[in-house]
Amino acid sequence: MKHSLENDTLIRQNLMLIENERRDIAFELHNEIGQNLTAIRTAAQLMHRQSEGRQTHPVAESIVSLTNQIHTSMHRLLHRLHPSILDKFGLFDALQDLMAFAQEYMGLQCHLDVMGDLDALPKDLQLAVYRIIQEALTNAVRHGQATEAEVQLNASANILQVFVYNNGTQLDSDLDVLIRHQSSGIGLLGIQHRVQAWHGDLVFKNLDDGVKLSCSFPLED
Ligand SMILES: Nc1ncnc2c1ncn2[C@@H]1O[C@H](COP(=O)(O)OP(=O)(O)O)[C@@H](O)[C@H]1O
Ligand SMILES: [Mg+2]
Repeated sequence: MKHSLENDTLIRQNLMLIENERRDIAFELHNEIGQNLTAIRTAAQLMHRQSEGRQTHPVAESIVSLTNQIHTSMHRLLHRLHPSILDKFGLFDALQDLMAFAQEYMGLQCHLDVMGDLDALPKDLQLAVYRIIQEALTNAVRHGQATEAEVQLNASANILQVFVYNNGTQLDSDLDVLIRHQSSGIGLLGIQHRVQAWHGDLVFKNLDDGVKLSCSFPLED
């Protein structure tokens, strides 16, 4: 891909469009489906209480349990679509939340280590960093069967460094090869685009006992 400022700006605009679209879909899902689902569940709970001892009791019970299941999956989907906690509380809280999620649902023991003020970073960069770490953790479990991960962020006045270590299996090719490989997904490409959009550097490295992702982003004073 051609590297130029113009190209990077286009990529950044494109990523912002995608993120805005995801945010709109998340709001819509939350407002439209979420409210109706809550109404159905409340009605089913009422029916459940009133149908005690009657034939309709198991039906009411299964409606309650099904709506609970949909509620849980919708919550996870909303979380993936758009991390609203990032808008409300910033990158540090959003990362803690992401890592608690990875621990609970993916069995990945996570540790977060932050130096510097993440709140001072541009909002769009915070979202890009969140997405990069989200993809790195998912890949670590999905492809590397990792059980432990460590995320380090180091923000100074003119540079932001991000490191993600995991104890999974090693990458079997270079990053460019993995990205070009036809059967591969778009996760690594997304990481590369986000780094490029912010004029950063990206390195994936195999370690003796896992994989390390490093990115650094120049910051303006
Ligand atoms: N942490 C990792 N450990 C081992 N292999 C990885 C890791 N991350 C990515 N890969 C390899 O790179 C490929 C592309 O990853 P990605 O672009 O995220 O697509 P997807 O996750 O949808 O397969 C994966 O199919 C896998 O072979
Ligand atoms: Mg992936």
